[in-house]
Amino acid sequence: MHKSKIKGTGMFVPKKVMTNFDLESIIDTSDEWIYERTGIRQRHICSKEGGEYPTDMAYNATLDALKDANMEPEEIDMILFASVTPDMKLPNSASILQTKLGIKNQCACLDIAAACSGFVYGVNMADSMIKTGLAKNVLVVGSEMLSQEVDWKDRRICILFGDGCGVAIVGRNEDNDDSEILASCLGADGTGKEFFQQPMGGAVNPLTPDIIINREHFMQMKGTEMFKVATRTLAKNAKKVCKMADVGLDQVDWVVPHQANVRIIETTAKMLGAPMEKVIVNIDKYANTSAATVPMAFHEAIKDGRIKRGDLVLFDAFGAGLTHGATLFRY
Ligand SMILES: CC(C)(COP(=O)(O)OP(=O)(O)OC[C@H]1O[C@@H](n2cnc3c(N)ncnc32)[C@H](O)[C@@H]1OP(=O)(O)O)[C@@H](O)C(=O)NCCC(=O)NCCS
Repeated sequence: MHKSKIKGTGMFVPKKVMTNFDLESIIDTSDEWIYERTGIRQRHICSKEGGEYPTDMAYNATLDALKDANMEPEEIDMILFASVTPDMKLPNSASILQTKLGIKNQCACLDIAAACSGFVYGVNMADSMIKTGLAKNVLVVGSEMLSQEVDWKDRRICILFGDGCGVAIVGRNEDNDDSEILASCLGADGTGKEFFQQPMGGAVNPLTPDIIINREHFMQMKGTEMFKVATRTLAKNAKKVCKMADVGLDQVDWVVPHQANVRIIETTAKMLGAPMEKVIVNIDKYANTSAATVPMAFHEAIKDGRIKRGDLVLFDAFGAGLTHGATLFRY
């Protein structure tokens, strides 16, 4: 069995910034309400002029990651693209990205529809592929343009989300160093599907003019229910992967959680007995970017010098489905 590790990371966010104060002029809300309840100050929004669609953001973030890993695009032998906002229905975003990167090796390209857990699903799937020798270097992407999917007239939901992309190259460890993915878990509970859904626009309910006029095609969420399940699940999975790797929670250097609400993050940290200094939080700048939050927060913490090679890091995510997953690794 091969060892796998994270070889490089990258991120990209669109230029346009929308602050809570900007939202005050669109809906009945305030910077104070949003910041106190969520920890969010602003979010980035993709341009509809082009150049910032999910695969464009992924292309830019991947160039950074390849540089970071000192690799050429052709060395990527699989692309896993996690997103609930793909560029189009067909073909998948992974294949579009393969072409944008100029990869000619016919590598496997797969999109992952696991909402906010999508990136962690991708890392864990890449880890399995590498360990069994089915792949050597997997590009895992979380890239979202949620600004297209929220109702900008619904103050309960539009304040929470933003656009952005984070990527990681998960590859076979041939350097003989300590970096290694140690343990991972994935799961889902379909009974909670109505807590966070977007039922219109699929095969069951194709879009009609009436659906659009009634604004029924946007994402719908039961915030309080999501909040409760999220904290319980995040804490449970963090403990689970630590147990699998026979590591104490106190030995973990950094927790990189999904960024849905700073209060969810704080409550989970409390349940785990982890001090907030060990928890990476950047929701204030980007809001919830679904599959992109974990790789963006991870990348930023590496770039600003907090997370260093050799540190023990925990990814912990949950999302619509309700999907969830965690990864424990030595970076
Ligand atoms: C959405 C969320 C921020 C709401 O916070 P909350 O403290 O539960 O607030 P409530 O929904 O109870 O609303 C409280 C009041 O604020 C109002 N309110 C809602 N959104 C508002 C906004 N943007 N600005 C001002 N007031 C708002 C509500 O109408 C309600 O008023 P009422 O009591 O007169 O009816 C919070 O529940 C949350 O973050 N949930 C989890 C989100 C999540 O996990 N998403 C999934 C991502 S994977």
